[in-house]
Amino acid sequence: MKVIGILGSPVKRGTHFLLKKSLKVLSEKNIETELLHIIDYDIKFCTGCNKCLRKGKCVLDDDMEKIGDKLIKADGILMASPSYFGTPTAQIKKFMDRTRYLKMDDQRLKDKILGVISSSGLNQGGGQSTTEDIYRFGLMHGMLIIVPCGAPQTEANMVIGTAEKTDGWRPIKKDKKAEKLAKNLGDRMADVMNKLK
Ligand SMILES: Cc1cc2nc3c(=O)[nH]c(=O)nc-3n(C[C@H](O)[C@H](O)[C@H](O)COP(=O)(O)O)c2cc1C
Repeated sequence: MKVIGILGSPVKRGTHFLLKKSLKVLSEKNIETELLHIIDYDIKFCTGCNKCLRKGKCVLDDDMEKIGDKLIKADGILMASPSYFGTPTAQIKKFMDRTRYLKMDDQRLKDKILGVISSSGLNQGGGQSTTEDIYRFGLMHGMLIIVPCGAPQTEANMVIGTAEKTDGWRPIKKDKKAEKLAKNLGDRMADVMNKLK
């Protein structure tokens, strides 16, 4: 089984750190992983031509089909994006729009396991809405969303790294709570994938 991690930040920093934590747990549980940094790929904006409605293929010539082929073969997708004004980055949005042909080609992403990670500078800085935007994308593809489920009294059901702390700032890789949640998400994704196989 395989999970594709998609990093939507333009830089390899806080969100990348959390994504790697989840992917490491997945590989420790014998799930193959691959991390795609979205800015390494040539992905053009959807032009809204609607040709994918009839053809189930995109007419644009770039790297999207290569990524789409990887997604089709994968059992799970782990998407990670910082909050940019409370929404996923433009790079992630562009990618999400371009997956439309996969939906039109008889729902190619349905039943894939989806996990989501986000980060923000501030607490209440839009990590939750960023995550929920990606959930909505997944639901519209018929994906199965998995969330972290740790101690119900103290651990949230979303992986959101933040740089803010009570007395200032820290790099997101110092956000121990988010790191624990990211590991829990990887663990849960692996368990669910094993149960479903
Ligand atoms: C264009 C832009 C918009 C941002 N908008 C917000 C925001 O609305 N709220 C917030 O808390 N942080 C915001 N941030 C900060 C990022 O979410 C934060 O630095 C995040 O941790 C970056 O992740 P990275 O280190 O993986 O790139 C913004 C950053 C940029 C560059």
